[in-house]
Amino acid sequence: MAKIVKKEPLNPSVTLMEVEAPEISKRARAGQFVVLRVDDHGERIPLTIAGTDAQKGTVTIIFQIVGLTTNKLNRLEVGAEILDFVGPLGKPTQISGLKRACVVAGGVGTAICYPIAKALHQQGTEVDIIIGFRNKELIILEKEFRSLSQHTYFTTDDGSYERKGLVTEVLKELLDQGIRYDEVFAIGPLPMMKYVSLLTKKYDQKTTVSMNPIMIDGTGMCGCCRLTVNGKTKFACVDGPDFDGFAIDYDEAIARVRMYQNEEREANCRLVNKNE
Ligand SMILES: Cc1cc2nc3c(=O)[nH]c(=O)nc-3n(C[C@H](O)[C@H](O)[C@H](O)COP(=O)(O)OP(=O)(O)OC[C@H]3O[C@@H](n4cnc5c(N)ncnc54)[C@H](O)[C@@H]3O)c2cc1C
Ligand code: FES
Repeated sequence: MAKIVKKEPLNPSVTLMEVEAPEISKRARAGQFVVLRVDDHGERIPLTIAGTDAQKGTVTIIFQIVGLTTNKLNRLEVGAEILDFVGPLGKPTQISGLKRACVVAGGVGTAICYPIAKALHQQGTEVDIIIGFRNKELIILEKEFRSLSQHTYFTTDDGSYERKGLVTEVLKELLDQGIRYDEVFAIGPLPMMKYVSLLTKKYDQKTTVSMNPIMIDGTGMCGCCRLTVNGKTKFACVDGPDFDGFAIDYDEAIARVRMYQNEEREANCRLVNKNE
């Protein structure tokens, strides 16, 4: 059981929660995640550890309300308990020795990449940050990212904030100016990570992506999170979630994440209808 000690909406569809989990908060490192279950009948879902406070013994998660479980989670208030909260899982992101890096994020990938950008900044890496949202209303963590880098760029699909366009356009401009990175980290929707990797490959810029397949146990046993990486099967929960961006079969990963779309939609409709 993990008690919720803070809950804050960051935008209409993204919520931050701080949860009591002292053992996880002591051990977690950037790039790792938890698997949680809201109630007895609930499915397990993975969420990135967005921050920790080892003194308070808490872990912060930031989640987008997209379906049944994130909806159920968002209905819990401060003082309520999450039934299962397991972690830290996955391999931490490898950042040591990097002098200059670029973090590229899209949508809720912003929450996933925040601990990585922060860890890079804390170890003295010069970080450029490029973040894309559909519109201004959806932007989260702006102040936090700007405190990590003077080179923080925002793009919006509709031009309602800063630059209209895609994150790949800003990254291309920086690369065309001759800027070179020891590593580019791309985190967000699968198509975004695919197109960042296609771009950076042309410039021979090492690129790491954080894969987000459907997961169940998070410990390498169910096989649900499998991906094809360099032609070999890998499990995102134990071999990742970070992988070489040039080695992923993105089209297969995109098809697999949509596998249960109809069932997921129906289950969420049942929850919404039940409460109307
Ligand atoms: C290692 C890892 C870390 C993650 N960290 C975060 C995080 O910090 N914050 C966050 O908001 N989300 C994160 N996710 C995604 C999150 O797990 C899913 O959004 C969640 O499982 C959806 O559950 P649901 O029942 O609410 O929605 P569902 O009803 O299961 O799905 C709703 C819609 O979202 C799509 N979807 C489901 N799972 C995923 C997925 N893994 N990636 C992309 N689309 C998906 C479905 O195809 C469907 O269209 C992470 C995923 C992984 C694998
Ligand atoms: S989630 Fe089951 S093997 Fe990765």
